[in-house]
Amino acid sequence: MAIISVGADDAGAPLKEHLVTYLREHGHEVKDYGNGEGEDYPDVAEKVAEGVARGETDRALLVCGTGLGMAITANKVPGVRAATAHDAYSAERARKSNDAQVLTMGARVIAPQAAELVLEHWLESEFQGGGSAPKVEKMNAVEERHLGGSATG
Ligand code: RB5
Repeated sequence: MAIISVGADDAGAPLKEHLVTYLREHGHEVKDYGNGEGEDYPDVAEKVAEGVARGETDRALLVCGTGLGMAITANKVPGVRAATAHDAYSAERARKSNDAQVLTMGARVIAPQAAELVLEHWLESEFQGGGSAPKVEKMNAVEERHLGGSATG
């Protein structure tokens, strides 16, 4: 079973707690970064994504109100591919096509039982390689070209 790091902000905490229980009940080891006490979603997403980039865990789940801020932040950490998914098909493709190591979800978007299904599909799916491999390499090359660039708003 995979080791999965998890983190949430205050908006995502109830769903994250539900999914941590679900993961443990299904035999997964969880590295819990907490519920963003005194922190905002960018603080939590950065820590969790850095852990993935360092190879401490293979996969991570981040939960905020929408899943969006967590994904945007995590994707700024080099080497990390984060995807927001609230349906099983997208979760599966995030692994098979995009090799996303990080799944993000929004507690204000999806019900806990539906989130379990999305998470399960994501965990059971692996990167398929093949024709998807050069596309993921191109995504990584975009990152490489922009490393060290200045942020614009
Ligand atoms: C609350 O800060 C809310 O904006 C956050 O949880 C998330 O939805 C951001 O993307």
